[in-house]
Amino acid sequence: MTLRRPAGRLDGLIESQIREMTRLAIAHDAVNCAQGFPDFGTPEPVRRAAVEAIMADHNQYAITWGVPALREAIAASYRARFAPHFDWVDPERHVTVTCGVTEAVTVALMALLEPGDEVIVLEPAHENYAPAARFAGGRAVGVPLLAPDFALDVDRLAAAVGPRTKALILNAPHNPTGRVFTRAELDAVAALCIARDLVAITDEIYDRIVYEPHVHVPLATLPGMRERTITLSGCSKTFAVMGWRLGYAVAPEPWSHALRTVHDFTTICAPTPLQHAAAAALALPESFFADQRAAYAVRRSAMLDIVRASGFTCTAPEGAYYLLCRFDAWRFDRIRDRDGVHVASGSGDSDAFARWLTEHVGVAVVAASSLYVTPGLGRDEVRFAFAKKAETLESVRQRLSTGFAKFAV
Ligand SMILES: Cc1ncc(COP(=O)(O)O)c(C=O)c1O
Repeated sequence: MTLRRPAGRLDGLIESQIREMTRLAIAHDAVNCAQGFPDFGTPEPVRRAAVEAIMADHNQYAITWGVPALREAIAASYRARFAPHFDWVDPERHVTVTCGVTEAVTVALMALLEPGDEVIVLEPAHENYAPAARFAGGRAVGVPLLAPDFALDVDRLAAAVGPRTKALILNAPHNPTGRVFTRAELDAVAALCIARDLVAITDEIYDRIVYEPHVHVPLATLPGMRERTITLSGCSKTFAVMGWRLGYAVAPEPWSHALRTVHDFTTICAPTPLQHAAAAALALPESFFADQRAAYAVRRSAMLDIVRASGFTCTAPEGAYYLLCRFDAWRFDRIRDRDGVHVASGSGDSDAFARWLTEHVGVAVVAASSLYVTPGLGRDEVRFAFAKKAETLESVRQRLSTGFAKFAV
């Protein structure tokens, strides 16, 4: 008997390489620098708030668009951090709590796109944007950021806008390049959205992980953008709680209502006790966030030293916790020929290198080729995530330096 085939909208979608590399890391006992989650503990006050919320019996369905305490905390946080820009945000009408930014992106695209519509993404890009566009009946169109410093090519961005372009996703601070876009770049994005009537969906999940002297400026705070931006962020990265699955969207009407409708019929609500805990976490003093930032700055310096000492080249990230590195000095072409490394047909060099590094050097990374929408790009870079304990980074240092000395000869 032949089983009926899965829906065509899944054609060509393959498993996220990040999760696949995590499995490979486990199989080869490699340090997992592939997936962007920390191996250090969630801060104690954040964990305690979750326990207290469960014990206070906040355990049933929440209001679909989020428990009031969390929506109020989100609105208050935006107002305080970016005054006076988010004064218009009414938690009753404009804030929706979702199951992570991942769901928020999918919900936003489902709420906006008609079949055949296009959404522009800056690539390399977080892996869920293109599948989410597909699920919504649309199509992601990639616009590459320009190496070596991953600047936004404003002319290319403008040229990518066609008659079916409805929206643009701006991930800022940017994973995996670490870019915090300049005011001039943000102005150019805003001008394009206004001129071509595009909705901006911003993924600002790293808005609290920005390195001095850089500053996060939400696109919605630029003139004319408040009414055309859906601002997304979440708790995963800020509080090291990837497993809580909490994100949020701040959007003007009528999109806020549309987002809530899709969210309601997809998940009903995000986890209730964790929403209460997140409300408490967002109210932590500014010193908590400053301490987190300082700790990431230390990890960033350590990781830059480690990779540079092992033949990788990269620019220092301005935000987030990834390094996008070229690996030319490893002379992988020679390693491949000498050791007969199998390269799956069609996969880029970075894909083969990432797998090889995991298996033979014991450090799992992500191939940049898996982060591009446009086939053929990202062959020369791999991504390291550095949200790791000091001892984990030390182990990465040892493995990479030993591997570089042994293989790159
Ligand atoms: C740019 C970006 N957006 C979204 C996510 C996923 O966020 P969440 O855990 O809130 O679904 C990630 C996770 O790595 C990310 O890097």
